[in-house]
Amino acid sequence: MTRYSRIIGTGGYLPEEVRTNEQISQTVDTSDSWIYERTGIKSRRIAGPDETASSMAEIAARQAIDAAQIAPEEIDLIIVATGTPDRVYPSTGCLLQQRLGIKNCVAFDVQAACSGSIFALSIADQYIKTGAAKKVLVVGSEICSRVVDWTDRGTCILFGDGAGAILLSVSEEAGILSTHIHSDGEYEDLLYCPNPQAATDANKHEPGYISMRGNEVFKVAVNTLGRIVDETLAANDMQQSDVNWLVPHQANTRIIAATAKKLKMSMDHVILTLENQGNTSSASVLLALNEGVRDGRIQRGQVVLLEAFGAGFTWGSALIKY
Ligand code: UT7
Repeated sequence: MTRYSRIIGTGGYLPEEVRTNEQISQTVDTSDSWIYERTGIKSRRIAGPDETASSMAEIAARQAIDAAQIAPEEIDLIIVATGTPDRVYPSTGCLLQQRLGIKNCVAFDVQAACSGSIFALSIADQYIKTGAAKKVLVVGSEICSRVVDWTDRGTCILFGDGAGAILLSVSEEAGILSTHIHSDGEYEDLLYCPNPQAATDANKHEPGYISMRGNEVFKVAVNTLGRIVDETLAANDMQQSDVNWLVPHQANTRIIAATAKKLKMSMDHVILTLENQGNTSSASVLLALNEGVRDGRIQRGQVVLLEAFGAGFTWGSALIKY
């Protein structure tokens, strides 16, 4: 039997507090119109003081488990993608495992910045295809608001908090058709978040906030995501017209529009969430997928292209027959 991974449940969680562009423009030199025109973002969600990556992950995960109609004990692997873990260790995966009350499974984190959910999905797919796991929970959860410098208008306008989850099961039917992940550490300085406690003497005074050379990141992202569309279609011997939905990482509408153009796809076939969520890093693709599935736009049997680009640089895609 050929083993495939198939999505059997999705979930998502967004914290209650909404922070609008108007509110941000009261504290830094920017405006609602600048932010909306350059990014497509109008507001983002901000986690409450008692929330963490693992608490948000739990809510999204429980939704995915309910949708899949399975018992949590059936899960044999949990992979959490996050760049904002509750603790350096134990992993957010272990904290989530404990929150879900699962005793006998493996749990770990994947850190690939905004591409984290695609990396986690790719690992999950390998485990299922080789027979090493039957049911895998993949979660992207981020509390970006705590690593954003709210005085830096180049970054504080972009990021938001939230969690997305999917449950994958072994199946004879496709499923995940292919995943493609890449890294290039050469660009580490264009986008990073320091860890002052583990830094060298020279760097340890650098605060633990996101640092980004936005315009340079933008250009590499557009070119790289264009290339990964070609790579993914070629690997599956498909044409642009075979893809029903694009579910992109939600960093900037202009980056997403360039990828849609590469697919010769109208924006009506792109799941866009960033207007009211901003960039939720590794949560964004799974949140968008969850939205598209739950509102009925993404239907069983349709072909969906997921893609992301983030710090590292890291980038990746997954082609799915939903
Ligand atoms: O998710 C991980 C990957 N991250 C990304 O993909 C983010 C990619 N980058 C971006 O989305 C965009 O580069 C930004 C939205 C961050 C910035 O947009 P941009 O069109 O690339 O602007 P820019 O950095 O080239 O700046 C243009 C001008 C500058 O002023 P001058 O030098 O032309 O006078 C900036 O100082 O806009 C100014 N500016 C702002 N003005 C008002 C930069 N940020 C702001 C702001 N409000 N928030």
